[in-house]
Amino acid sequence: MKGIILAGGNGTRMYPLTLACCKQLLPVYDKPMIFYPLSVLMLARIGEILVISTPSTTPSLRDLFGDGSHLGLDIGYAVQDEPRGIADALLIGADHIAGDDCALILGDNIFHGARFTDMLAASRAANHGCTLFSYPVTDPERYAVAELGSAGELLSIVEKPLHPRSENAITGLYLYDREVVEIARGIRPSSRGELEITDVNRAYLDAGRARLVELGRGFTWLDAGTPESLLEAAEYVRTLENRQGISVACIEEIALRMGFIDAEQCFRLGSELGASNYGRYVMEVAAEISAAH
Ligand code: G1P
Repeated sequence: MKGIILAGGNGTRMYPLTLACCKQLLPVYDKPMIFYPLSVLMLARIGEILVISTPSTTPSLRDLFGDGSHLGLDIGYAVQDEPRGIADALLIGADHIAGDDCALILGDNIFHGARFTDMLAASRAANHGCTLFSYPVTDPERYAVAELGSAGELLSIVEKPLHPRSENAITGLYLYDREVVEIARGIRPSSRGELEITDVNRAYLDAGRARLVELGRGFTWLDAGTPESLLEAAEYVRTLENRQGISVACIEEIALRMGFIDAEQCFRLGSELGASNYGRYVMEVAAEISAAH
């Protein structure tokens, strides 16, 4: 399975924060926002990842991750020269996907919860079309909204409805089978001129091949796409990290735990960041895991 992170858009909802820096590089407490979606793909055991962003942002993202080999990953870059919609990422990424199945994640989506790795593995195994993840929110009109039947089956998906039929927002993590590029090629721009991911998902739903996984209580999904939600996300991460002494979305730790790199390499990466608490944490995790083996 291939991975795609869409870190496009002009971040206009964040101006002036994003006049000179892209949204996905803004800090969510102690690390850049894009670490969070990258860590989700890594937890799904996806090592081949394409990062799609604007022409001006791509060089900074390349500075941040390089080719990903230090993390045991293969990270490539592609440019979306204009914001043509989320589904456009599937067209830009067609060569990267290359007939494989794929996971697409939005660069401002933050997922956190117990046994998430197991849930991702089970969702990958059960995916025979598209798999969507929903989460109950108080402001569903900001998102794509899922309507569920009495047995929890997916009945409809509506993008930013004025009158939502449920509180279940569809999150920005999507798993697709190998047909997704063909399906994305078949959709047309919406009234706002974008290729809507909801139209791709609806095509799967109409074909009876869309599956919904409900992320419920005990799970956290945040989007950090407005100043308010960015601050909330930072506070959430800070609270957890300070209370438990564990790091959320520490990509070096995840690379080690998922077997992309060994403890020696993890320690090296930590020492390169050594002057920060984050760097010290990476070194500690590497030392602990290496002592346990
Ligand atoms: C996008 C999608 C929407 C989805 C949301 C998740 O909205 O269009 O379907 O629910 O991401 O974050 P946007 O953030 O572009 O408004």
